[in-house]
Amino acid sequence: MTSGLPSPGDDLPARCAQVVRARTDLLSSVGLVLGSGLGPAIGDELEIEGSFAFTELPGFPPSGVPGHAGTLSLGRLAGVAVAAFSGRVHYYEGHGMDVPALLPRLAHELGASTMVLTAAVGGLQPGVEAGTVVILRDHLNLMGVSPLRAWRYPDGMPAFINTEEVYDREIGDLAVERADALGIHAVHGVYAAMSGPAYETPIEVGMLQRLGATVVGMSMVPEALPALALGMRVLGICSLTNAFGEHVTHEEVVRVSNETALAVGRLLVDLLPRLPGPKAGT
Ligand code: HPA
Repeated sequence: MTSGLPSPGDDLPARCAQVVRARTDLLSSVGLVLGSGLGPAIGDELEIEGSFAFTELPGFPPSGVPGHAGTLSLGRLAGVAVAAFSGRVHYYEGHGMDVPALLPRLAHELGASTMVLTAAVGGLQPGVEAGTVVILRDHLNLMGVSPLRAWRYPDGMPAFINTEEVYDREIGDLAVERADALGIHAVHGVYAAMSGPAYETPIEVGMLQRLGATVVGMSMVPEALPALALGMRVLGICSLTNAFGEHVTHEEVVRVSNETALAVGRLLVDLLPRLPGPKAGT
C-alpha cells in the first residue's frame, strides 16, 4: 500500500511559500484561480494581506495573456482566508504541465484544502446561453497528456489516483443551489479540455458534443487533477462566454467573461463561508 500524497519531487512550492511568508503568515483555507476576465470578479471584496507578482515566485513564469494579470493575493474573501491567483499559466503558452500544477501545489502548501477554479468556456449544447454559469461535474481530458505524468508517491509509485469524483459533488451541488438562491443562472456540466490555443473547428465541436461534454476550454484540468492528487476538494466554476454555434474571438470571450464576473463574484462571496472542511483522511 502506498502512503502519503503524490508529488513531482521538487521544492518549488516550499520556495514560493518562503517568499509569501516573508510578507504574511495568513493560513489559507481556499485556493482560488481566476481565469480570463474573471480577475475583477472579487474586486473590492478581497481584503488583501499580501500580493505577489508571478515573477516573484520561483518556477512561475510571467502570465503572458492579455486579460490575465499574473498575481497571487493572500487575503480574506467573505471572512475566508484565500490564496487567490489572478491569471493562470496555460499549457498552450508552451509550458509543461508542471507549471500550471504549481498553482494548486502552492495553494496546498499555504494551507488550502479546497481549490476553486474558474474559467471561461465555450458552449457545446444548443440552448445553453452565453452568460450561464456552469458548475463542473466531470471532465474529458483531450489535452494529450496527464498533468500527473511523472508524479510519484514517496515510495516511487506513479499517481494512480481515483478520478470518479474530481469535482467535489457536495460543493458542486451547493454551488448550484446558492446560485439559484442568488438568481444566477447556473447548471451542472462536463468540461472538455483541449490544448488550444486555436478554438475548435466545427467538426471538433460536434465530436465533443457527441462525447458528452457540455463546455470546452483550454485550462482547468492541469490544475484540477494535481489539486485532487494533493487531497484537495475541487470546485470548477465556468463562465460560458460563447454559446454553441456562435462565432468566437478572444476579445468576445474576455468581454462576456467580464460581464459574468459580477455574478461569479457574488456566488463566491456567498459560497465560500459555506464550504465544508477538508476531506476526511487528509
Ligand atoms: N473553446 C475553447 N476555450 C474557450 C472557448 C471555446 O469556445 N471559449 C472560452 N474559452
